[in-house]
Amino acid sequence: MVDARQVAYLQALGVDCYVPRSAPPLQAEAEVIVAAAPAPSAVVVARAGAESVQPDAAADLDWDELRVTVAACQQCDLHATRTQTVFGVGNRQARWMFIGEAPGAEEDKQGEPFVGRAGQLLTSMIRALGLRREDVFIANVLKCRPPDNRDPKPSEAASCRRYLERQVALVNPTLVIAVGRIAAQNLLATETPIAKLRGKVHSFGAQAWPVVVTYHPAYLLRSPGEKRKSWQDLLHARQLFGRLEQESACGGRT
Ligand code: URA
Repeated sequence: MVDARQVAYLQALGVDCYVPRSAPPLQAEAEVIVAAAPAPSAVVVARAGAESVQPDAAADLDWDELRVTVAACQQCDLHATRTQTVFGVGNRQARWMFIGEAPGAEEDKQGEPFVGRAGQLLTSMIRALGLRREDVFIANVLKCRPPDNRDPKPSEAASCRRYLERQVALVNPTLVIAVGRIAAQNLLATETPIAKLRGKVHSFGAQAWPVVVTYHPAYLLRSPGEKRKSWQDLLHARQLFGRLEQESACGGRT
């Protein structure tokens, strides 16, 4: 680890920063996403300011309190049709956080996000980044399954938002990946089409956590021709992640 004193020494020596941890190598799983993808196009940085966050009851909860609160939630009608809530899974200190739309049938049954076919592809995408599924934290905009997998209603997403904001605050990731159009539009409070949200750096929540957007794996299963673009998004994310970690080692984000 590089502490503040070391950074000061290095800066005094004219060295901008020293980051001892090398980025994980891209793995063979990349081929699952797409073979021979071209280099990513230039990254357009369009980082918005922090959104205002209303004070709410979830803002001070710890992990266990939050999990219990979500499990008991009846703030919208989805509680009546769910088998169980799907809180989220993974490393609570993860540096990468993946946020999807809502649980599907399999997730509702198992109580874990992204465990169906789309989930398997998401796991491959995570592995293509050189990570394991258990290294990252995975959550959804909604904690309950909408009937027939319909799109979340704005009121449902609004009810769940405080839980998601608290999860992101507790994880405090270096980078958030918004998985799919619905997740991206909800996180970023926009109706901009996903094609225009990709390739940029957005921000979410009280601390303006950086967010990049990619296609939902369920969409990629239906449109395998788009996997190439999704691979470009992952390369963009990985490059950005390296930069953000370097900045934070230099005393930027904490
Ligand atoms: N799609 C999502 O967005 N989330 C899941 O958990 C499963 C499928």
